[in-house]
Amino acid sequence: MSRAKRKADHLRGALQSGQAGESGFDDITFVHQSLPDVNTSSIQLETEIGELTISSPIFINAMTGGGGKATEVINSSLAEAARELNIPIAVGSQMSALKDPEERRTYETVRKNNPDGIVIGNVGSEASVDQAQSCVDMLEADALQIHLNVIQELVMPEGDRNFEGALSRIETICKEVSVPVIVKEVGFGTSMESARKLSDAGVSVIDAGGFGGTNFSMIENQRRKKDMSFFNEWGIKTAASIAEVKYACPEIPVLSSGGIRTAMDIAKSLALGASACGMAGRILKWVKDGGTQEVLDQVILLQEELRWIMTALGINNVHSFQKVPFVISGETHHWLKERGID
Ligand code: FNR
Repeated sequence: MSRAKRKADHLRGALQSGQAGESGFDDITFVHQSLPDVNTSSIQLETEIGELTISSPIFINAMTGGGGKATEVINSSLAEAARELNIPIAVGSQMSALKDPEERRTYETVRKNNPDGIVIGNVGSEASVDQAQSCVDMLEADALQIHLNVIQELVMPEGDRNFEGALSRIETICKEVSVPVIVKEVGFGTSMESARKLSDAGVSVIDAGGFGGTNFSMIENQRRKKDMSFFNEWGIKTAASIAEVKYACPEIPVLSSGGIRTAMDIAKSLALGASACGMAGRILKWVKDGGTQEVLDQVILLQEELRWIMTALGINNVHSFQKVPFVISGETHHWLKERGID
């Protein structure tokens, strides 16, 4: 199977059936406050991801590149949207550009269209230090994501079967590359055990990448003849995963991704301890439906809605989400109790 065909399958699969699940945010309820003492017009959305300051707690998460013209067009539109919104953008895995230099332009378009913004590179945990640094240099990236996608690889007919040595390669990359390293899951969630290992390896930021949004087990199962649908429900829901990572590594910035669809999902992520939220599948739909303008309109609406939610909660900056009271119920409550997280 050609790489371009696989990328096209992923894009189609993500649009058709990927965003099926529940990320656990329905189990989080904010406690209403009747005297918020806040003016919506003075609310600041600025926040930080580690050492990077960002204008609002939303970023475009890794999606594509390396699939010829089709992925170049998507990345160009996403980069324009990121530039206009002044939000960070991560590219899809750059491993294909290392294997085929012809594909470099499908990624480089992101930096070209967004010369001064925060651009984040992306590699798999099979990457060497030299490969990781090449990917950073390719984009003059401000940070590097390393994705962990064991379940996707297992379900993918042509996927990897050997996952030995990933943690030690991550550790070396963290020591050697010139930018902060963000390790991310791709929708199966990060556990407290994995988070501790990553923290010990020196990663700067962990993106929980929880279950409930784009489902790469479902997408890959649709592409293969032999069904491995027992992985379709596998994963830690995003709300629980943020809590796991935050509990295990309170000093490491945690990002929320996996099924972020609404401003309320963003608010609940921030209250659980996330610094910012990455969106992939939903932004892909917007860019496919209406190009750059649709992404701009929808993200501006999310930012406005987030300000209204912050008004109701009586807070005027993102850091104050840490003191907002909320109640955890249902499956997420049960999960966190079972896991010893209070
Ligand atoms: C992805 N994602 C992804 N992640 C990554 O680290 N490297 C990659 O190359 C890709 N490729 C990719 C392609 C497509 C079409 C989609 C939709 C997603 C995963 C993405 O960054 C994110 O972790 C998951 O999609 C979960 O977030 P959403 O989609 O539920 O918001």
